Amino acid sequence: MKIISSPAELKNYLVGMNQSIGFIPTMGALHEGHIALIKKAKEQNEIVVVSLFLNPTQFLKDEDLEKYPKKDEADKKICELSGVDIMFFPQVSDMYGVDEVSVLAPKIRGYVLEGESRPGHFNGVLTVVMKLLNIVKPTRAYFGKKDAQQLNLISLMVKQLFMDVEIVPVDTVREKDGLALSSRNVYLNKDERVEALKIASSLRRASAMVSKGVLNSEEITTAMRETLAPLEIFYVEVLDRQFNRLSHVEIANTVILVEVKVGTTRLLDNIWL
Ligand code: PAF
Repeated sequence: MKIISSPAELKNYLVGMNQSIGFIPTMGALHEGHIALIKKAKEQNEIVVVSLFLNPTQFLKDEDLEKYPKKDEADKKICELSGVDIMFFPQVSDMYGVDEVSVLAPKIRGYVLEGESRPGHFNGVLTVVMKLLNIVKPTRAYFGKKDAQQLNLISLMVKQLFMDVEIVPVDTVREKDGLALSSRNVYLNKDERVEALKIASSLRRASAMVSKGVLNSEEITTAMRETLAPLEIFYVEVLDRQFNRLSHVEIANTVILVEVKVGTTRLLDNIWL
């Protein structure tokens, strides 16, 4: 595996390769969810590139940038063992200068759900993803369905800015007990880890209701809120795949999203129906 930290060097290395490139952008602290993205990219491309960059612009002032888990050496091993060809490992100064051009998330879709409690977060995400895609110029880029709003906004950016890359959504990977994998799960203590299982339970409850023919969004979200209590809930929403509110679940066109706070940790999850 080749490790490259300079954007110019990576561009030079990839230019004229004439092979399909699968790209997985990450902020490190890799887990099985990232490995699933790498596996998918390996199936579909000749070369796989993973970036490891803790992007400061997507963290708000009082957020966890400083304490975000850093596992650079373990991450390199995971990439190597997963068959990654190139790891892109830039410094902040390689990616950002002063008085920069940036990408703005849409004024509505970028400021609801996670964007409502983290205003500006998606500007940082879209800006860094745009930079990374321009450096790597992949054939396909892979994103987890767990961050459904991020996936939706990146897909919109690629479509609306006429970018030449296929965005591939990959299913959420869960622990055996249902907890969705996230780099932030390490923040949970033992009791919080148990409390966090309410998130997956609420989604299973929603799915079971739909299987029994209950399609009314309000009935479903009320039941989910009941399961989630007494956790602090940021949102529970039933949306279509374009992220518009639905009054009733539409089979094969629905995503039910939830974000809660467990202790001091914000956790999100969703189910695609
Ligand atoms: O999902 C993440 O890990 C980050 O938001 C991403 C897409 C790597 C951008 O920094």
